[in-house]
Amino acid sequence: MTRHLRPAMRSALLAGLLVAVAFAGLSAPRAAEPDAIDRGLEAFRAMLKADAWSNPAMLDADRGQAIWYERRGPRKISLEPCDLGKGPGKVDGAFAGLPRYFQDAGRVMDLETRLLWCMEKIQGIDPRSMIEKLHPAANEPVKDLGAVATWIASRSHGLVFAGPVSHPREKATLRLGKALFHRRMGPFDFSCASCHASADKRIRRQGLAELVNPEEARRTVGEWPAYRVSAAHVMTLQHRLYDCFWQMRLPELQFGSEASVALIAYLVHQAEGGTIAAPGLKR
Ligand code: HEC
Repeated sequence: MTRHLRPAMRSALLAGLLVAVAFAGLSAPRAAEPDAIDRGLEAFRAMLKADAWSNPAMLDADRGQAIWYERRGPRKISLEPCDLGKGPGKVDGAFAGLPRYFQDAGRVMDLETRLLWCMEKIQGIDPRSMIEKLHPAANEPVKDLGAVATWIASRSHGLVFAGPVSHPREKATLRLGKALFHRRMGPFDFSCASCHASADKRIRRQGLAELVNPEEARRTVGEWPAYRVSAAHVMTLQHRLYDCFWQMRLPELQFGSEASVALIAYLVHQAEGGTIAAPGLKR
């Protein structure tokens, strides 16, 4: 019993014990195994996924559909003439073919960037009037453009990502996306890969997607846009990347910028062959 030990011996024993505990901690398996809270959250998500209509994002998809057909902007015209890659007004399956090069715009675009372009060119809406507050704050519904994106993505549900990488600009965009993903930047010297290139990484309770792993990319990327339970709104992929840029303390990621499109092209390419399950559901 320690009560009978001399003080010096007692502290030596205590120090030894602490060292042993520290090393046990180091060699112990990392906290990657799902614990009770993880399992509870997974059960919660599974219940919501079991009934596709229980995903609140379906309400935003409905709103987006109405916005697509509504005559809006200075020209009071609907988005129906918008060509998402399959011809004007063709929505079904269009999302599965994005990002891609658009001749009329002279650049590669993801879904949201294309919608912004169509709103400007077809409806005459000044993109600057939308860009500034394009992402919703917590508990605010997704903005109109995001709602339209949610509807259009939902119309590719069950299809496989098949964005083309044949045009030289598509190839260059993909190369840029890959380079940006792996490049360390900003005051923290983080790259996307710092957080998304190994299994079992987490921040607080959130497991971080291992996006360099095609299997994991196929599982996660196809779920965007997704209803984010903790923020009570739909988040689009442009919004997700905007937030990750903020986490890296980089300058704000500009909506529809070349960098944002290139990163999305890279993510979609990583998820090639994966099934689109949008709108998804995230924590
Ligand atoms: C400091 C760590 C960090 C960095 C660096 C980072 N992210 Fe993230 N990323 C997160 C967190 C946290 C989440 C949200 C996880 C959650 O809520 O489940 C996330 C989520 C994502 C998701 C959604 C994954 C899923 O589960 O569907 C994508 C895609 C993503 N990030 C891409 C990027 C890209 C691209 C970059 C580089 C521009 C990047 N991230 C940089 C922390 C980071």
